[in-house]
Amino acid sequence: MTAKKIRQLYLDFFRSKGHAIIASASLIPENDPTTIFTGSGMQPIVPYLLGEKHPAGSKIADAQKCFRAQDIEEIGDNRHTTFFEMLGNWSLGDYFKKEQLAWIFEFLTKQAGLEPENLYFTVFRGNPELGIPRDDEAAGILKAEFKRAGLPAKTVDFSENGGLQDGRIFYYDETKNWWSRFGAPANMPKGEPGGPDCEIFYDFGAARQIHENSPFKHNPCHVNCDCGRFMEIGNSVFMQYLKTDQGFKRLPKGNIDFGGGLERIAAAANQEPDIFQTDLFTHLIFKIEQLSGKTYGADQGMTKAMRIIADHLKAVAFIMGDDRGVAPSNTDRGYVVRRLIRRAVRFGRQMDIKEPSWTKEITKITAHDYLSVYPELGKNINKVVEELEKEEVKFKKTLEQGLKEFEKITSQLAGKKISGQQAFYLYQSYGFPLEITAELAEEKNCLVDVEAFSAELKKHQELSRTASAGKFKGGLADSSEPVKKLHTAAHLLLAALRIVLGDTVAQKGSNITAERLRYDFSYGAKMTAEQIQQVEQLVNQAIKDGLPITCQEMSLEQAKESGAHGIFESKYGEKVKVYSAGDFSKEICGGPHVNNTGELGRFKIKKEESSSAGVRRIKAVLE
Ligand code: ALA
Repeated sequence: MTAKKIRQLYLDFFRSKGHAIIASASLIPENDPTTIFTGSGMQPIVPYLLGEKHPAGSKIADAQKCFRAQDIEEIGDNRHTTFFEMLGNWSLGDYFKKEQLAWIFEFLTKQAGLEPENLYFTVFRGNPELGIPRDDEAAGILKAEFKRAGLPAKTVDFSENGGLQDGRIFYYDETKNWWSRFGAPANMPKGEPGGPDCEIFYDFGAARQIHENSPFKHNPCHVNCDCGRFMEIGNSVFMQYLKTDQGFKRLPKGNIDFGGGLERIAAAANQEPDIFQTDLFTHLIFKIEQLSGKTYGADQGMTKAMRIIADHLKAVAFIMGDDRGVAPSNTDRGYVVRRLIRRAVRFGRQMDIKEPSWTKEITKITAHDYLSVYPELGKNINKVVEELEKEEVKFKKTLEQGLKEFEKITSQLAGKKISGQQAFYLYQSYGFPLEITAELAEEKNCLVDVEAFSAELKKHQELSRTASAGKFKGGLADSSEPVKKLHTAAHLLLAALRIVLGDTVAQKGSNITAERLRYDFSYGAKMTAEQIQQVEQLVNQAIKDGLPITCQEMSLEQAKESGAHGIFESKYGEKVKVYSAGDFSKEICGGPHVNNTGELGRFKIKKEESSSAGVRRIKAVLE
């Protein structure tokens, strides 16, 4: 059973149940500030889950291109990918649990051909504190389905040391059986929809591999354990709640949001726990075998490298080949693309691929494999190949320069340890992933201070997230005088917030019009009235002090050393502008600003609210 066939069967099945089949949305979301890539089928559907009317009706289904950047580090095992297709069906206030669970059971067992005895389900065990009941209804529907299939299905409450207890349907808490774009209820911002869910697991039998990092590795096996026996293949979310200030409110109508991983369902249908052995990957793996002269599965290291290359370059083909596609760059999405390419090139080097420019071959095969479903890949392939070739050749050059730089660093090394800053310098300036530095260090009997590197990297990522969210080019309505004033006020605001709330506060975004400033920043709690007042006072004092605004150009390194906040993501060696308001504020920024804080008038915070998980939003004006 090919994945291609399963995709078609799924869409046909839900069409036969009255669903309109819609096209996949772009991988690059429009008007959705919560994420830089489309990471689930429901993301483009959010407005309709919240009550807007969908032009195609109240029952829709699709196969959606998805990309999850947070999974990059996990790639290499038999089940994780950054790019995947999510089969989705939605009820927008139409059918609910009974139909959904029966249909999914029918689709998986009758259409995709999964044996009922290999299917396991989990449901929400309820939480009185949230006012959400135990989902006995879902468990009851599933029990009836199993009975119809001739199997008894015992329900069991998950307990850490209980193992499977002959169970078929398991109750878990909200850390497992609750879905929203932000995860568990506690992480959801106000205004976000979510609900209890029902996850489907496939049993591949005896464990194939134990995941070293699994939090469950010392527990007896259960369906959510990472031993490799079970794989989650789909999830029906009962989207019926909205997070509000007063806890969870019911949405006007109950919705269904189903998502199934196509690659994983295909793996289950073929009883092949390695998704890289399904038809969505075999051509890619074959090409990588040809290029490298190595055999998939022959040894663990090579298998991992092949999976990484196949996954990363497939993702690159989809992101760059999207109709709203992005090229590799140093910012935002482009930086993700760059990382994927470099990682693939680096593993290609490890596998001794000699071709001067080979990554494009993998994207060509991807375009060909998916052409009938995603024709944009074919339409955009020339552009993809051209950009990719440039990027590959360029990185191979920095790789060589980086090697020389590495020699220099180690020849001057006092101890046997490469510092986090040195490793980060190689990473930042020559695009050296940490593992290259670590391997090279090992050959010289040196170590890398991995923790310090991670800390540097984290700091950098925080800052570049800040930067990408708050790039002023997009954040300013224009460069009129009122906008300039509010822009300067935004700098004073950040400085004041850091004094009142602490050093962890960083900018997460801003939007400034002539009338008001909107400012997002990292902070985990609602500000008290007193804190708001303190911030206002500090800003107004800085205004009263009539501080001169000065601008200096310097290198990124100098800007960092000077203690400036803000964007640290420019290329190494590039000059940045640092704007200071007296000694009160110092930020890397492109401007424009007024000349003196005395020009601003009175600063007033109109509103302080949640923006997203861990991010607060302030609306303020100058009176
Ligand atoms: N939106 C749900 C998920 O991504 C179906 O798991």
